[in-house]
Amino acid sequence: TKSYETLLTEIRGSVALVTLNRPKALNALNSTLMAELADVLSLYEKDDAIGAVVLTGSEKAFAAGADIKEMQGLDFVDAYVSDFIGGWDAVSTFRKPLIAAVSGFALGGGCEVAMMCDFIIASDTAKFGQPEITLGIIPGAGGSQRLTRAVGKAKAMDLVLTGRMMDAAEAERAGLVSRIVPAERLIDEAVEAAQKIASFPRAAVMMAKEAVSRSFEVTLTEGLRFERRLFHSLFATEDQKEGMAAFVEKRKPAFRNR
Ligand code: CAA
Repeated sequence: TKSYETLLTEIRGSVALVTLNRPKALNALNSTLMAELADVLSLYEKDDAIGAVVLTGSEKAFAAGADIKEMQGLDFVDAYVSDFIGGWDAVSTFRKPLIAAVSGFALGGGCEVAMMCDFIIASDTAKFGQPEITLGIIPGAGGSQRLTRAVGKAKAMDLVLTGRMMDAAEAERAGLVSRIVPAERLIDEAVEAAQKIASFPRAAVMMAKEAVSRSFEVTLTEGLRFERRLFHSLFATEDQKEGMAAFVEKRKPAFRNR
């Protein structure tokens, strides 16, 4: 396994645990960190032994946003020509399930990276926000779009325009996070969820992710058609035969990712 300057990685069964690791900067997302994250995700995407990934930070911060010290000197032409932040799309285009385990601050780009994951499990200490407005900018990695789809216009406008933070309970009520767990349980809970996902047939899991993700892109009719095609295609897999035979025979399935 490769080692990184700004990430820690650990394999637990079929799950890869990726920990953002710039503690002195509250995991501010600089270009090195985002390039390393893109790199490790591309390795896990190709690695058959990995069925799902958990992305986490420290107890104090998942990530406190894009690195302000790195961004400070950018001008428009630099930002535009280099497509500043464009490389972050590696997180949202990752094809295997990706769970964000969020403790402490998930602000700005930190909240945006969490929202690029398939779902967010939050510790009771988590705080979410899009404070870009306080710096004279706006969210640049999906905060105005994914947050609005997740929590609706009222709360998205409130957060994006005032820059205030919401705690884990408010984030769960609003639909941004799927579960809240005590801080000390966070990693285990997320890894257990990922391990469960990884135990299911790989193709079905990846198609399930693809189908839900597609719902954000297309009309209902198109989304339903896409879902139906994927659904039909899974009847061509050996694991569908095994899963249904096991149910009928009242035994545990032995999936082979075929
Ligand atoms: N970029 C760079 N450095 C950061 C940072 C960031 N986003 N967030 C925190 N740090 C650094 C601080 O500068 C400080 O470093 P020094 O010790 O060298 O001074 C260190 O991390 C610890 O931070 P604080 O002393 O500020 O810690 P705190 O507990 O007092 O406050 C906080 C925590 C409220 C999260 C505060 O750090 C903060 O407001 N951070 C910035 C949050 C923010 O505005 N994020 C949005 C960034 S813009 C963006 O993300 C654009 C986009 O959409 C992609």
